[in-house]
Amino acid sequence: MANAQATDKHPGELADVPGWFPPLDQVLFTWFLDRQEQQGTGGDLLELGAYMGKSAILLGHHLRGGEKLTVCDLFESDAPDGPNQAETTKSYASLTRQAFERNYLSFHDTLPTVIQAPSSVIAKEVGPGTCRFVHIDASHLYEHVYGDIGAAREILLPEGVVVLDDFRSEHTPGVSVAAWEAVLNRGLRPICLSTQKLYGTWGDPEPVQEELLTMLRQHTDCGLSVQWAAGHRLVRTRSKGMQPPPFPRSRHYVPPASAPQTPPASRPRTARPARPRSHARRLAVDLLPPVVTRAIRRARTSRA
Ligand SMILES: C[S@@+](CC[C@H](N)C(=O)[O-])C[C@H]1O[C@@H](n2cnc3c(N)ncnc32)[C@H](O)[C@@H]1O
Repeated sequence: MANAQATDKHPGELADVPGWFPPLDQVLFTWFLDRQEQQGTGGDLLELGAYMGKSAILLGHHLRGGEKLTVCDLFESDAPDGPNQAETTKSYASLTRQAFERNYLSFHDTLPTVIQAPSSVIAKEVGPGTCRFVHIDASHLYEHVYGDIGAAREILLPEGVVVLDDFRSEHTPGVSVAAWEAVLNRGLRPICLSTQKLYGTWGDPEPVQEELLTMLRQHTDCGLSVQWAAGHRLVRTRSKGMQPPPFPRSRHYVPPASAPQTPPASRPRTARPARPRSHARRLAVDLLPPVVTRAIRRARTSRA
């Protein structure tokens, strides 16, 4: 995973926050969360692996009265084992909790509940059956993701949605194994697959899939296909130049300075064309006797 560079600046827009949250997934998160809100499905939100806050900031925007967002990340703390430590040193070296909090507070008045610890603690921190949406994006190693999926199952409401990041990236085979194992052996039902994330539920995926298909078919900026595998309907979508959904700017947004007025291009200085002699002057010269005109011409030539 390429390192998303941290910056010292307050973000003006969500696009300024470093992270790994493609426009298609921003559209899908927004759609799932809006749908839950429209259906009156209340519940808390949880993110395992927040990094600089890109996806957490979007989640925080969807909190309704009485709901809570919890994020869990190691930030600067040591990872629980060597492979996980190698992963965090390689990909998240510039991460600080302070940078996460600065970014989050640029868009929201209050912080979420922040748990600075390995994601394995989460089932002790968040109550069973309390969340409507869980984003799993912490360690990408099999043992950790296996545990995170188990915790999400406990924590989610019956029709809640879980999102597994990097379920098929070349560099994260452990997530792929954990994700498809959950589908085949642990009751997880896929709702849809984006390029980067698997969206699933332990409830009934069919009603939400139908609505999602209707929404996606209206988009000309994403590809869509449906396949069946091992009794699961797999709705696969990918971006074709999709833009992120509209999102409120941060309190630090500064509109770009209007382009300076460019002066009209100045005409290149060229030699002024010789002014034609006026008709009256020409007439006057032509009427002079030849001896006088010759004298005038001689005088002009000697002046030149
Ligand atoms: C891919 S980043 C998260 C990206 C973020 N969700 C976004 O959209 O920009 C993964 C994060 O997980 C954290 N992490 C890695 N291993 C972890 C573990 N065992 N427990 C908790 N967090 C972990 C890292 O510190 C890093 O911030």
